Amino acid sequence: MYRLICVVGARPNFMKIAPIIDALKSETDIQVTLVHTGQHYDDNMKQQFFVQLGIPEPDIDLGVGSGTHSIQTAQIMMHFEPVLEKYSAQAVLVVGDVNSTIACALVAVKNHIPVIHVEAGLRSGDRQMPEEINRILTDQLSDLLYTTERNAESNLNREGIPSNRIRFVGNVMIDTLKKHVTKAAPVAETLSGFANAEALAKIEAGYALLTMHRPSNVDDKETLTRLLDTLSQISKRLPIIFPLHPRTAEKIKEFGLQNKIDEADITVLPPQGYMQILGLMANAKLVLTDSGGIQEETTALGVPCVTLRENTERPITVDQGTNTIVGSDPVAILAAVEDVISNGGKHGRQPELWDGQAAVRIARDLSSWFDQQPQT
Ligand code: UD1
Repeated sequence: MYRLICVVGARPNFMKIAPIIDALKSETDIQVTLVHTGQHYDDNMKQQFFVQLGIPEPDIDLGVGSGTHSIQTAQIMMHFEPVLEKYSAQAVLVVGDVNSTIACALVAVKNHIPVIHVEAGLRSGDRQMPEEINRILTDQLSDLLYTTERNAESNLNREGIPSNRIRFVGNVMIDTLKKHVTKAAPVAETLSGFANAEALAKIEAGYALLTMHRPSNVDDKETLTRLLDTLSQISKRLPIIFPLHPRTAEKIKEFGLQNKIDEADITVLPPQGYMQILGLMANAKLVLTDSGGIQEETTALGVPCVTLRENTERPITVDQGTNTIVGSDPVAILAAVEDVISNGGKHGRQPELWDGQAAVRIARDLSSWFDQQPQT
């Protein structure tokens, strides 16, 4: 029997690992050890996802928590190494592009343990983004790379990674979406306690969902001020629902910008669970976001997405899906929002292999890959 360590650390990892663990269990006899690094630790950033998505309790929680990038990455590495020594795994599987992904990949490869990367080959071309560095380095360290869209393979080839290590399998996050979408939480239920009857009636006539937490949007006072002013203008056309990421909450407070939110038609919520955010996305007239995952989820749901970033590592959501990239320029944001309000925005189509079966494809492939590895 083969032993595989699966790593999760931050919120966007949880919806990716859930179907993989399920498929490994139903399709293979690979023994999974689940390690949570503790990069995200608040109940609303972590625990409710484990419960709602049926992810087993981690076998090991490294309890690392927040810090600068260097401190967080180093802490994860220091705590992960003894785990690798204790559990003699034949491979380590990492997902996505967060600090936990690169930290554990680096420890594994230095200990001569093969690394498997799910969601490989995405590139924004923007090295200012911490995730871009994590993507490039994790892919370089990986023995087996599973991709979500076809152009990821050419990105990887360009960086010298041969095609025989790459498998186009589709999108595990969309597996999770397809499994849960019919059971998503109703919007009124999610908003109860946060919106009065009058606000709720307005929201039910159509709303925009907003998520925003990228350092490039929220860490600079001038940029965040400009964005909040633009959002305030949008809220005059369409009420906005805004689940607030802890990083953004901290910055709004630090820069004294709370009044901009209070004065606009923006309903602020704490970070939401998966079922709640799925319900909010599926029923929105439009989604404004700087998240990576939400660009993909809105494409899968057919909901127009206006992305508050200068670039995307997920170009398929623009070429085939409902995504429009606008950056942080007010004129571009308002024009894209107006297009959705007046013309319904982009319609898009389902990308290839975003069919709810990606994790099963990974599990089957992984099982035969293990069989081909030299026995130690
Ligand atoms: C991380 C990922 C990002 C992902 C995001 C989703 C990296 C480089 N970034 O960014 O790709 O889109 O997660 O959320 O890995 N905090 C809490 N409670 C928590 C976790 C964080 O209050 O449970 C606060 C802390 O003040 C912390 C800040 O949020 O300093 C940022 O957390 P961190 O994990 O460093 O990065 P994210 O911005 O969440």
